[in-house]
Amino acid sequence: MLLSSPPPSHGAGTRCPAGRRVRRDLVHLLTVRQIYPASGPEVTAGEAGGRREAADLLAGLYAYPPGISPDRPWVRANMIASADGAADLNGLSGGLGGPADRLLLQVQRCLADVILVGAGTARAEKYRPARPSPALAALRLGRAPTPPIAVLSASLDLDPDAPLLAQAPPDARTIVLTTEAAPARRRAAVARHAQVIVAGTDRVTASQAVCALAGLGHARILTEGGPGLLAQIAAAGQLDELCLTISPVLAGGQSRRILAGGPAGDLAPGLPQAMRLACVLADGAYLFCRYVRPAT
Ligand SMILES: NC(=O)c1ccc[n+]([C@@H]2O[C@H](COP(=O)([O-])OP(=O)(O)OC[C@H]3O[C@@H](n4cnc5c(N)ncnc54)[C@H](OP(=O)(O)O)[C@@H]3O)[C@@H](O)[C@H]2O)c1
Repeated sequence: MLLSSPPPSHGAGTRCPAGRRVRRDLVHLLTVRQIYPASGPEVTAGEAGGRREAADLLAGLYAYPPGISPDRPWVRANMIASADGAADLNGLSGGLGGPADRLLLQVQRCLADVILVGAGTARAEKYRPARPSPALAALRLGRAPTPPIAVLSASLDLDPDAPLLAQAPPDARTIVLTTEAAPARRRAAVARHAQVIVAGTDRVTASQAVCALAGLGHARILTEGGPGLLAQIAAAGQLDELCLTISPVLAGGQSRRILAGGPAGDLAPGLPQAMRLACVLADGAYLFCRYVRPAT
């Protein structure tokens, strides 16, 4: 498979999912090939309409499995790591990404019902509401133009007037999952704009978070991390799928891996967990690996 993605429009760079930046004034030609399982037929998308064509192909490859419903939600993670396993460069994931990774992330956002992030990621990456993409509008037919962001926070140390909360559209209000123990004043402030769900007592377990989102009708849950949240989701046996971009960069340093935290010097209960490699795409030196949890 060969995909060409065309001309991003003009103007300044724009903030992308997980803080990765798109230079809209550059013309990116993507050449994404499926390399596992065996390569499929070669498909070339021309420049005119090519972005949509590339997105359609990615949407097909990353379609959620059938049978998903709020009773049977599916949790997909999208993460990026350097070739030596770092989940960030100097505290941000932006330096790891590339054009195809950004397009894939946008497609995955469009396919999802909700985007779940830990408050650490929302703060570090200055998360904003998802932006509608005209080229990908067909993926949202019958749903709001963008999925809401759901932020998990015990402290509610979130700026209630920041764009993430205050500028979300009415049909995709930001959701804040928190605890009974969260400070009442912060809860009231956050609730001015966001939908606040108290989902746990002192902390919200991964199962409680998934359950709360499914209770709102969100069956396709895309989590964008961070590593602390993802480790809890995986340890709780809630991670159905991991979409991992491997960036052709060596990071070194003290960066964490895409799952991090848990008991010091010990493996979290529920981990390690075997995953099945479902698909690998390549764009130049970037690899896009899709792992799914083996059927039980
Ligand atoms: N490589 C990638 O793909 C990728 C993706 C995302 C993020 N990142 C990077 O990862 C870093 C951020 O990740 P992180 O692991 O530090 O933070 P995180 O997992 O995004 O968020 C941690 C925060 O989430 C809340 N939280 C976590 N578990 C909770 C629970 N059980 N109950 C209630 N609240 C809970 C807490 O918020 P409160 O403190 O508000 O209580 C906690 O401080 C950044 O450097 C970012 O750039 C990388």
